[in-house]
Amino acid sequence: MNTNDLTRRQFLAAASVGSLAAAAFPTHVNAGRKASKLAVLGGQAVRTKPFPGWPMWDKNADEELILSVLRSGVWSRNKVVAEFEKQYAALMGVKRCIGTTNGTGALLTALHCLDVGIGDEVLVTPYTFVASIQVIFLVGALPIMIDPDPDTFQINPDKMEEKIGKNTRAILPVHILGLPAHMDKINAIAKKHNLVVVEDACQAWMAEWKGKKCGTLGDLGCFSFQNSKNLPCGEGGAIVGNDDKLMDKCYSYHDFGRGYGNVGQVEGTGFRIMGNKCRMAEYQAAILLAQMKRLEEQTQTRNENAQYLTSRLKDIPGIVPHRLYDGVTRAAYHLYPFRYEKEHFGNVPRSKFLAALKAEGIPCSSGYNRVNENAFFENALRTKNFRKAYSKERLDRCRQLNHCPDGDRLCDEAVWFFHSLLLGTKRDMDDIADAIQKIYDNHAKLA
Ligand SMILES: Cc1ncc(COP(=O)(O)O)c(C=O)c1O
Repeated sequence: MNTNDLTRRQFLAAASVGSLAAAAFPTHVNAGRKASKLAVLGGQAVRTKPFPGWPMWDKNADEELILSVLRSGVWSRNKVVAEFEKQYAALMGVKRCIGTTNGTGALLTALHCLDVGIGDEVLVTPYTFVASIQVIFLVGALPIMIDPDPDTFQINPDKMEEKIGKNTRAILPVHILGLPAHMDKINAIAKKHNLVVVEDACQAWMAEWKGKKCGTLGDLGCFSFQNSKNLPCGEGGAIVGNDDKLMDKCYSYHDFGRGYGNVGQVEGTGFRIMGNKCRMAEYQAAILLAQMKRLEEQTQTRNENAQYLTSRLKDIPGIVPHRLYDGVTRAAYHLYPFRYEKEHFGNVPRSKFLAALKAEGIPCSSGYNRVNENAFFENALRTKNFRKAYSKERLDRCRQLNHCPDGDRLCDEAVWFFHSLLLGTKRDMDDIADAIQKIYDNHAKLA
């Protein structure tokens, strides 16, 4: 199986059950770290046992909670969702939390309730999951692509101001891969240009910028709890924020526009604003309450293992581990990324490097492709609504600014490890580093 040919979600699913390594090499015993013949050329793999699978659950915490919801017969939003919201807000160190059906619904709600819509431009990175860009189109605004920083993989604030225009209304920083974006610079630019900030923290549960949780640093923060995520419940999401008025509006919007708090209660049918429906269900919240019990410890383990892995990889020529900004006090590590510079590997293409690494028993992927060049982008601009809402000049400006050479470079050079690989032992990290070192030592035979 070649994960290069897989979609990101297929890769995450495959990696999460440890099947890539196991499927490729079910029969070997560990061949020893220093074996020199590459497994992809018929040698023995560095590693033959699978890495920790994902998601994790247990009888006491998870099964009991979900069964009690099932048996109650109350499956729509009720007390369990309210309890999750209370606990998640406390965990994030924020006043309010609203559970949603998924991260996409959370982002849509946040943008809409901050009045981002038709006529507006929103700054976003192309190095992200497609949902971060789709939600901007879905509220009727134009996404303006800002190149990521190739060292940190995050949206590059130093490249923002050159693309700000009179219609720029918001920044949507994505803490992509669970590594924090540079929130000091982003918030300073937002303040200077009077922009709202919606943090896409859909991969960044528990990540921190200067001791404050990602998702709590802008106007609103959004999370995803989809199956592959570090805090999973199958499908789920949340919005967090400190502004009661704004959070009441989000609550109302996510519940058909029904009156709520400051949005106003009325007798009888109280639908007050244009609304959507993206309420979290009780069984989603039940799984999350159980999963949250492990999150702190798992986050700690991921950070320790990531740090150790970086210390092992940083001296291998052509392997450039991601850098964390100085303001990062903790990362979430939804994925562990590095850049593969093929010049140091005798120009062996990344696809061959990945195949060799998988053959050594290490599940890995090439990460995002150029999402901003996918057909949906141009197709959105060509829809009847966008052609009605915007002049040709405005649509062309969006097209012309959609060039991000550093983002392209990341798409060409990135290598990712899924977060569950970081939940094992230091010895597991040694296997990863030993496999990469072995490929480096033998790269001439791959050429
Ligand atoms: C960065 C990012 N933004 C948004 C989303 C959307 O979240 P969901 O799949 O829960 O709708 C995801 C999910 O993969 C994501 O990774």
